[in-house]
Amino acid sequence: MILVRDLSYNYGLEPIFKSASFTVTFGSKVGLVGTNGSGKSTLFRILAGEIDEDQGRIEISGKVILVPQEVKQDEEMENAKTIREYLNSRGGKKEDYEMRRIMAGLDLDVFDLEHSPKEMSGGQKTRLAIARGLISEPNILLLDEPTNFLDAKGKNWVMQYVGKCKNTVIVVSHDLDLLDKDIDKVLFINKNEKSIEEYNGNYSAFVRQKEEEEALQIKNVSEQKKKITAMKKGYTKISNATSEKGVRQKLQLKRRIEAMEEKLPSMPIEAKKIRVKLPEPDWIGEIPLMMEHICKSYGKKKVLEEVNFDIKRGERIALVGENGAGKSTLIKIIMGMVEADSGEIISDEKLKIGYYSQEFETFDYNKTLIETLKEKCDIGETELRSQLGRFLFSGDKVFQRVGSLSGGEKTRLAIALLLVQKFNLLILDEPTTYLDVMSQRLILEALKMYKGAMIVVSHTPEFVEELNPERKFLLPENKMILSGKVKI
Ligand SMILES: Nc1ncnc2c1ncn2[C@@H]1O[C@H](COP(=O)(O)OP(=O)(O)OP(=O)(O)O)[C@@H](O)[C@H]1O
Ligand SMILES: [Mg+2]
Repeated sequence: MILVRDLSYNYGLEPIFKSASFTVTFGSKVGLVGTNGSGKSTLFRILAGEIDEDQGRIEISGKVILVPQEVKQDEEMENAKTIREYLNSRGGKKEDYEMRRIMAGLDLDVFDLEHSPKEMSGGQKTRLAIARGLISEPNILLLDEPTNFLDAKGKNWVMQYVGKCKNTVIVVSHDLDLLDKDIDKVLFINKNEKSIEEYNGNYSAFVRQKEEEEALQIKNVSEQKKKITAMKKGYTKISNATSEKGVRQKLQLKRRIEAMEEKLPSMPIEAKKIRVKLPEPDWIGEIPLMMEHICKSYGKKKVLEEVNFDIKRGERIALVGENGAGKSTLIKIIMGMVEADSGEIISDEKLKIGYYSQEFETFDYNKTLIETLKEKCDIGETELRSQLGRFLFSGDKVFQRVGSLSGGEKTRLAIALLLVQKFNLLILDEPTTYLDVMSQRLILEALKMYKGAMIVVSHTPEFVEELNPERKFLLPENKMILSGKVKI
């Protein structure tokens, strides 16, 4: 049972919650939703006792475990000698075979329980933290975007597991439709009001109610606006009146107009008109990059065998395949982060690659947004600010330190940074992770405007379709096909 009354919290001057209240009863399956930066991760940290509320009453009964949005430097994980030790470190009592089953569901069965968690990649560590969350069987499990580092199969597995679980689970996710039939409540963080709204029922019921509410609000606001315009016309008509009665009427009308304008509810946030301005990428030859006969094995496991791959100037290619099919290995070979066992890479001498991966951040966490952008492109302060504004960072936000940005805000910034430099090939490994609908739209539109070549990996089929790549490269089939021939 979780009971929150009149919760207030702010980071410095920026309020996140103002007098927010909600209740979660035992055993519920709750979806926590809200736009990027609305405070989902913050709420989880408050519930888990990692940070203290400024004001309000919070009552929680039972053991709470929080699996954070991303796990990079977790001391417990770094210090654990084996995966088994880490998985049991929160009071888990599972047998080895049960642990292995959970590991397999999360696509971690390449590791055995004796292995040390240290050498795992960021995505694998995040999934291992989910495994520990499930294994510890807390009374209340808080999962912050658990499906980010998973393909469709893995996502389904997590959601099914959560659905069957007897305890209380609160999940933040952009894939809540996967959990639709199991969710019995949705908590929505209203970023405008800084409040938390409660909706009983499953996720689609929430979406329906929200759409109805917004339609009603838009109707109300436009009706009120019409009334105000009519009153203003009336006011202009009598504006020359000088008689005592006339002056009094004028004043009354003016007050009424002002009062109505003040009370006018703010419109639901719509996707801002998206206008991104991108520089031309630096000039490059016809074929920026070509790979021939690339082979790569990890131990006995052959990941890439005789891969031939090429990309033309300005072409978009989608890399398609399940987790473990070798997409990231191929990308890392192109980037020179992993060495191929054999084969050749021929690249244009003017090739400049911009790389985004959710696991690979090059931010200096202590710098502000504006300092970070300034480092990458040589433009004046005003232009820097308007460029950030186009990517939805406005006002004082530009002076925030990069390290304290929310997951979605970091992704949005990372991609904005790639687009404003003059790279002629972008490699994007899961660019939509963490992004809410509006940011996804924004990034998609910006990527569509980009004129250089692009290699993109995404587990969001709609995103790939909209990006409309000329060709798709299928792994592990090792086949290049023209788009439109295969649905992913
Ligand atoms: N230390 C801090 N100083 C200033 N602002 C902060 C700090 N930490 C977080 N914020 C801001 O508070 C807001 C809420 O952050 P939070 O991480 O809770 O959002 P979220 O809903 O989890 O977003 P996402 O969907 O992107 O993960 C964000 O706008 C973030 O930039
Ligand atoms: Mg978050």
